[in-house]
Amino acid sequence: MATRKRHFGSDNYAGICQEAWRALEEANHHHCPGYGDDEWTARAADLIRATFETDGEVFFVFNGTAANSLSLASMCQSYHSILCHETAHVETDECGAPEFFSNGTKVLLVSGVNGKVTPDGIEAMVKKRSDVHYPKPRAVSLTQATELGTVYTPDELKAIWSRCRSLGLKIHMDGARFANAVASLGVKPKEVTWQAGVDILSFGGTKNGTHVGDAVVFFNRDLAKEFDYRCKQAGQLASKMRFMSAPWVGMLQDGAWLRNASHANAMAQSLHDELVKLPEVKILFPRQANAVFAELPPAVIRAMWQRGWKFYTFIGQGGCRLMCAWDTQPEDIRDFVTDLKQTLKDTPADAPVPAGDHRAMK
Ligand SMILES: Cc1ncc(COP(=O)(O)O)c(C=O)c1O
Repeated sequence: MATRKRHFGSDNYAGICQEAWRALEEANHHHCPGYGDDEWTARAADLIRATFETDGEVFFVFNGTAANSLSLASMCQSYHSILCHETAHVETDECGAPEFFSNGTKVLLVSGVNGKVTPDGIEAMVKKRSDVHYPKPRAVSLTQATELGTVYTPDELKAIWSRCRSLGLKIHMDGARFANAVASLGVKPKEVTWQAGVDILSFGGTKNGTHVGDAVVFFNRDLAKEFDYRCKQAGQLASKMRFMSAPWVGMLQDGAWLRNASHANAMAQSLHDELVKLPEVKILFPRQANAVFAELPPAVIRAMWQRGWKFYTFIGQGGCRLMCAWDTQPEDIRDFVTDLKQTLKDTPADAPVPAGDHRAMK
């Protein structure tokens, strides 16, 4: 099996970008106070506030699951419910952490095309029941960019906000790929967050080029009350916090976060443009961020795995998720497409697929 330098498995397969790495190195001198009481953490939080042009509260946690679950927990009582799309990471890939950290708040699923919820979908779920036996809807969690590689426009978000306001719902945004969404839409970060009613954002760093750690940004400062205790209790207060916050300084101070995201998006566009030329390949969702979802014959998928390419087939609604990262190179796309063309030629459409667990490709 060929050894590949880079894959299309996930944007977290990529390493640490130079800007984040240099900031980490710079932070690694002398002593400085722990638990976030340091200069790097203050600078990173200020840069996040400047990026969003608002005075929000900022916390750094170890990963996206913690950012999402603790954000949602801060909005809900245990008898509440959280509405999200049926393919949302908070539902499918967090092992029940949002329910766990909120002491049992129920996650209710809303369907919608291309991984997006709609105002009507939200309202239908809220109005399904209004009695005391139904967990009281309290929050909506939106993923931006979505798990299917699409993005919510500012108008879509505002329409959701307007409905949420009338239904008494708070808005959380899972922004594991927020940078990719902003780069794709060409908007200011504020236009797709607090100006569109987002109360709390889980702002993703790792998929964008840092080594570890996501930021939780409270645009609604009231919800941040005692969040520091919530983080500590959940094991999310880093003692050497500067190594979680310094990379954010590197990423934000000269725009690396958007350069990285724009690059990943452009690579996905270029992969998409090659794949649409192949009649055997069906593109499943509009390419709007850094992922391309494609349907391939099962025997071809297995043959591509055997050629050393790693990518997933179980995310979202099936199909192959081909994810580009900040360091994806044009030659990766060229080599992948060359192999795919050859594999399609060599593999009869009805070739049998040997039994095997696709998760082995993780
Ligand atoms: C949409 C989405 N949200 C959140 C996360 C964060 O997950 P983790 O806890 O692995 O950082 C991911 C990572 O795959 C994701 O794709």
